[in-house]
Amino acid sequence: HQYANILTETKGRVAIITLNRPDALNALNSPLMKDLNDALRVYDADEGIGAIVVTGGEKAFAAGADIKEMQPLTFVDNYKKNFIGDWTGVTTIRKPILAAVNGFALGGGCELAMMCDIIYAGDRAVFGQPEIKLGVIPGAGGTQRLTKAIGKSKTMEQVLTGKFMNAEEAEKAGLVARVFPAASLLEEVLKVAKTIASYSLPSVLMAKEAVNKSFEVPLSEGLHFERRLFHSLFATEDQKEGMDAFQNKRKPQWKHQ
Ligand code: HXC
Repeated sequence: HQYANILTETKGRVAIITLNRPDALNALNSPLMKDLNDALRVYDADEGIGAIVVTGGEKAFAAGADIKEMQPLTFVDNYKKNFIGDWTGVTTIRKPILAAVNGFALGGGCELAMMCDIIYAGDRAVFGQPEIKLGVIPGAGGTQRLTKAIGKSKTMEQVLTGKFMNAEEAEKAGLVARVFPAASLLEEVLKVAKTIASYSLPSVLMAKEAVNKSFEVPLSEGLHFERRLFHSLFATEDQKEGMDAFQNKRKPQWKHQ
């Protein structure tokens, strides 16, 4: 399938989606977000795919929501169309999504990265929520997901001053899992994605679901949910296979990928 604002390709069981509006530093407009959500849904349903990588360009992952598109909007426009509401489609995807961030991840770009499951950064990546400089605030999770990722004080500083964070700071703060040299970022992230995609899919989906649950419910409910999922995996052939393969010192042959 051809999309106007993204590029898609697959490598084995890994899908790669590249945001592709380089002239606007991959500013996120509605058509781009529609393309992205469509492609994610297609790969989520594709039995040949086990993990998805979302990346951008060398200069920008995404420099935010499209300011030209937003400038004339009114409250009533936004409210009637629930502007940004459908962006969260990204968070309804069940397979793991890895963000590979080179360059700017600002405003909606940082928020999009945070909707993914793991963020990896190139060493020249820049993160920030500079909406305050435009007379607005983050609108796609910046005040919520960033707080959960790096805590109140650091988030307040980002959101209230609009200052940027470099890759090293982002890793230290816990926003980013690991930093790689910019030139090898995608290759390194593909290795991680390939590893994830090589496991039994039910356990991968449940692992993601269980971690995400921790953001929504109190600890006792989260632990209860985790234990039920854990119990249920013993109904799969792949639990028998994985544990048998360990004992016999061989590689597991998963039935369900
Ligand atoms: C539309 C954008 C854009 C954006 C960059 N461009 N960011 N267009 N929306 N968010 C365009 C520029 O207008 C310019 O096009 C081209 O991309 C190159 O950008 P430059 O500014 O010339 O590049 P540079 O000087 O290197 O500066 C890079 C930058 C700067 C620091 C990233 O572009 C910047 O500050 N961008 C805006 C960042 C921002 O405020 N993001 C938050 C947006 S609000 P032309 O045609 O002029 O050459 C937001 C709300 C989220 O995200 C809430 C809901 C999701």
